[in-house]
Amino acid sequence: MTRAMIREWDKASSKRCLWGGRVGREKITVVGAGNVGGTTAQRLAETGCYDVVLLDIVDGVPQGKGLDLAQSCTLVGSDAHVEGTGDYKATTGSSVVIITSGVPRKPGMSREQLLATNAKIVKDVVQQAVAVSPKAILLVVTNPLDVMTYVAYKVSKFPRERVIGMAGALDAARLRAFVAAELRVSVENVQAMVLGGHGDSMVPLMRYTTVAGVPLSEWLPKDRIDALVKRTQDGGAEIVSLLKTGSAYYAPSASIVSMVEAILKDSHKILPCATLCRGEYGVDQLFVGVPVKLGRRGVEEVVQLKLTSEEQAALMKSAAGVRELCSLVDGMI
Ligand code: APR
Repeated sequence: MTRAMIREWDKASSKRCLWGGRVGREKITVVGAGNVGGTTAQRLAETGCYDVVLLDIVDGVPQGKGLDLAQSCTLVGSDAHVEGTGDYKATTGSSVVIITSGVPRKPGMSREQLLATNAKIVKDVVQQAVAVSPKAILLVVTNPLDVMTYVAYKVSKFPRERVIGMAGALDAARLRAFVAAELRVSVENVQAMVLGGHGDSMVPLMRYTTVAGVPLSEWLPKDRIDALVKRTQDGGAEIVSLLKTGSAYYAPSASIVSMVEAILKDSHKILPCATLCRGEYGVDQLFVGVPVKLGRRGVEEVVQLKLTSEEQAALMKSAAGVRELCSLVDGMI
């Protein structure tokens, strides 16, 4: 057998079993090899469960990071195949495409300019990625999150099940971290639910935030709870002001991986994600953060929670902000 024959045999046998089902590691593409993308690729590669392609527009960066990451895998005992590239051909047949590509808001840049620039980037990325991975699930991370997820949905023409935005998982994780630190309990004891758009209009649902199954209101006075809610809403900004340049990436990448694992392990885990609402929660044809059940098909179900009139009003206000930005972006894509 020649080397080329062995390679071909290897490729075929590791991806397909005799009856046509998939065996071996699934391929995940991470677009954008910056802080969030690079850290996400690292976390995924280190699980050893997925092959990872890291793609960026800046020549050399994904290749260099990919090589570094591949070498690190030997030390953590991962056999994942990692590749850094600028060529979408290498992403062919990805099960999940994670989109972190974009530019941060620069001084003097208006919200509309940021929106236009990132919408163009996300549009271009989605067009190229879905051309070679038509069955992929798209996970969008680029900000402004809810609107960029809408762009990915419009451009890909994928069903809503396969276009998901990462926001609520991160916001809920931040709230859980603050609650656990305040009460000095394990993070595993804390459950939290955050709805709405990603940003200061998010709606943390404190009635559904529990510690060891007991509502938070039994553990903390209202003023402390309000302070934790405020800190969660400002969670991203707090980190930006500390870093001075750049924004958070450890918790965002961990949040993405939790979504990927729920999907590829078909765990039916309920997480708050930006999904296209079609009447759920009184929101129609708009991406906002709501609890969804994630499995191998992507969004399997939008979980309907009962909201108080106050919570519903806050969600509608948050959704109105997203709708305004979506109508702006409609003319740009
Ligand atoms: N195709 C591929 N990659 C691109 C493109 C493009 N068209 N345009 C920009 N990029 C890449 C940049 O070259 C850069 O490496 O996207 C990467 C973005 O990385 P960072 O600037 O480090 O940003 P990061 O901190 O990773 O955040 C990425 O996630 O949480 C959000 O608000 C955050 O929108 C931002 C995104």
